[in-house]
Amino acid sequence: MPNSQYAIDQMISAKSIAARVESLAKEITSYFKDTDKLIVVGLLRGSFVFIADLAREIDLPIEIDFLEASSYGNSMESSREVKISKDLAGEISGKDVLVVEDIVDTGHTLKHVLQLLESRKPRRIEACALLDKPSRREVDIKSRWSGFEIPDEFIVGYGIDYAQMNRNLSYIGKVRFI
Ligand code: PRP
Repeated sequence: MPNSQYAIDQMISAKSIAARVESLAKEITSYFKDTDKLIVVGLLRGSFVFIADLAREIDLPIEIDFLEASSYGNSMESSREVKISKDLAGEISGKDVLVVEDIVDTGHTLKHVLQLLESRKPRRIEACALLDKPSRREVDIKSRWSGFEIPDEFIVGYGIDYAQMNRNLSYIGKVRFI
C-alpha cells in the first residue's frame, strides 16, 4: 500500500518532455525513413502517455500495438523472470518495429521483450525509452534512443506510477516521503 505521507517534486517539466519527444521523433523518423510501415509497440502500462505523444510526432506510416510484461524479483538468484501477460495483437515478421518504454531500470524487461520480438524475425527492431537509469542496470542492454538519463530516484508521472497512482501527472516528479 502507498505511504500516504509523501510529496511530489517536479523533476522534468511537461515542456522539457515535449521538446525531447519532438527531437526523438525526428531521429526515429529519419532512421526509419524508407519504411512502408513502422509498428510502434508500447509496453503497458507505463508507456501509454509517452507512446501517445511520440507516435503523433513520428512522420511515417505507423501502426500501434501493445504488449504487457510483468517481472518478478528473485533476490536469492539476483535474476528476474519476465512474463508476458498480454502479447501483441499483430504479426511483426519482416516488419519494422519500434519498442517504446517509459523507463529502463535493471533492463530485464527490455532485454526479455527484445529477445522475444527478435525471435519473430522482424526486418528491423529498435527501442526508445523516455527515461534511463543506468546506475541500476543488471543486464547489458541499451535502447537506441533515450530521452533523459536520470539518477536512482523514485519517480512518478507521465505514465509512471506509485502503487498505480500518479500516472496522469503531465510532468516527471520525484517522490519525497514526509
Ligand atoms: C516498469 C517500467 C518498465 C520496467 C522497467 O514496469 O514501466 O516496463 O518496470 O524495469 P526493469 O528495467 O527493471 O525491467 P512495471 O512492471 O512497474 O509496470 P507498469 O509499466 O505497468 O507500471
